[in-house]
Amino acid sequence: MVATNDSYQTTWDQYWGDITAQTGAALWDVAPDHAAARDLKTVQAHLANDRPLVDLGCGNATQTWFFGQHFDRVVGVDISQVVIDAVAEKSTMANVSFRQLDILDVDACRSLHADIGDAHVYIRGVIHQLNPDHWQQAIAGVQTLIGQTGTALIVELGGKAHRMMAQIQTPPPKLAEVLAHGIRPAALAPGDIQKLFGDNFEILAHGDTAMHTTQPLPDGNLLQIPAEYWAVRQRS
Ligand SMILES: C[S@@+](CC[C@H](N)C(=O)[O-])C[C@H]1O[C@@H](n2cnc3c(N)ncnc32)[C@H](O)[C@@H]1O
Repeated sequence: MVATNDSYQTTWDQYWGDITAQTGAALWDVAPDHAAARDLKTVQAHLANDRPLVDLGCGNATQTWFFGQHFDRVVGVDISQVVIDAVAEKSTMANVSFRQLDILDVDACRSLHADIGDAHVYIRGVIHQLNPDHWQQAIAGVQTLIGQTGTALIVELGGKAHRMMAQIQTPPPKLAEVLAHGIRPAALAPGDIQKLFGDNFEILAHGDTAMHTTQPLPDGNLLQIPAEYWAVRQRS
């Protein structure tokens, strides 16, 4: 992955522009039952629904609109202005709004926090595609958004995904399309999330899960990539 904030935006604007932000076109764009709904069910006890929820790196908002049915206020944010413009135009839910935001931009995160207060933050498949040198800064942005009372629900690729990806010799078409845009999936190592958040934050829940995809395999099944989830909150 290229290393400056500008290049993340250029890369993702090109990706979303090329696949036209249609539901199901992106590799990871599955129905909420296989993503947000399942993830929310796993850690629901830690996410009071009277707090706003930020869907960080919301892409074409399939998961964001699901959250809109369960939280009083939902804000979908993404670095790509192209995808934000597309979803904002389609959105019909009064309690769901969208804004362009780079999680590495400290001022933008402070400004969103000032507008909506402590929020829960859902992060699915966003950290692992950043350059690992930027992970600490990204988590600082998440910490700003959750403040003292919000919970971060994170679903990212870990070591098992890394080993699986290393064995793929010819990437299937939807993964090839991602790679062709210069997007390189990395994987979090055991202990990374606690290390990145630091001792003032506690991991309330953690376990194995799968990143379901829309990529059919020759055996007729859809590709699933091993993943892990974490629910993290500031210690009281
Ligand atoms: C793999 S996609 C996941 C999309 C969505 N979370 C989902 O599960 O459907 C990663 C998303 O993160 C966004 N993104 C990449 N870098 C970002 C950054 N620095 N700040 C905010 N969003 C970012 C991309 O534009 C893309 O929509």
